[in-house]
Amino acid sequence: MDKYLDSSNEIKTVVFPVAGLGSRFLPVTKLVAKELLPILNKPLIEYAVSEAIKAGIERFIFISSPDKQSITNYFRKNNKLENELRDKNSEYLDIISNNVIPEENLIEVIQDKPMGLGHAIWCAKDYISGPFAVILPDDLVVSDVPCIKQMIDVYKKHKCNIVAIQEVDKNNISKYGVIDFLKNNQNIYHVRDMIEKPDQEKAPSNLAVIGRYILSPNIIKELSMLKTGFGGEIQLTDAIKNSIISENVIGYKFEGNRFDCGNVMGALEAQLSIAINNDKYKDQVIEIINKNLIKD
Ligand code: G1P
Repeated sequence: MDKYLDSSNEIKTVVFPVAGLGSRFLPVTKLVAKELLPILNKPLIEYAVSEAIKAGIERFIFISSPDKQSITNYFRKNNKLENELRDKNSEYLDIISNNVIPEENLIEVIQDKPMGLGHAIWCAKDYISGPFAVILPDDLVVSDVPCIKQMIDVYKKHKCNIVAIQEVDKNNISKYGVIDFLKNNQNIYHVRDMIEKPDQEKAPSNLAVIGRYILSPNIIKELSMLKTGFGGEIQLTDAIKNSIISENVIGYKFEGNRFDCGNVMGALEAQLSIAINNDKYKDQVIEIINKNLIKD
């Protein structure tokens, strides 16, 4: 029996929905998956995978599209390149071998039609039997303790569904799933309702759901009903909301900085911030910025 298909309550599996078209990054996404665009020398998806690995996750499910199989290939062994680098005694050999995910832990499921985030997660159904993590790679979180690890620690204590939350400006609230809560104890919010992308005036709070979730397998059952919601799509927010009758849901205000790399400016901000906080690049980046700010 697959060691992950048991009733163990440990979070060892993560789902990455990566089937989106990446329209905001056209024309580059005509050919290159948005998740493979670089933040410094690593593609965006690698930040998400590293975060999961640091949290003890061992099994990686990519919900992809027929045109985006380059994402899983990125994490496969590249024998030809490895041999070439080995022949040259190259220092880069380690870098390309370090990010390989073993074949038995790398799962790709093709989502044929873009039917929403909830549908993407439902596509993982054959591989889910216990609680699992979901990471939306567009939301890059920089933190001392990886965001999904913080959430796994909360899960160990509370054993329920957990969504990452962050305060956002009211003007931007309608871009997110938004929680309503009964009470909170520091950064733990007991959720009583959730709404996907509410109008600004109907938002129950300024606490937006960010792309990190710990979910029970019952969410898959909820998603199986394939009910459509906001934008005519099957929404993960709705499935979690519907689970509130039978399961607790916690909104966890995580520690760290989140960058919305789903748009060009957010990705640029992530680039700059990560470079400025990296000893290798810091001085050069500041020099480049200063040089460009000086007007003739
Ligand atoms: C998705 C979720 C939304 C969440 C957001 C976080 O929306 O549906 O609830 O707040 O991610 O980034 P998307 O950004 O895919 O439209």
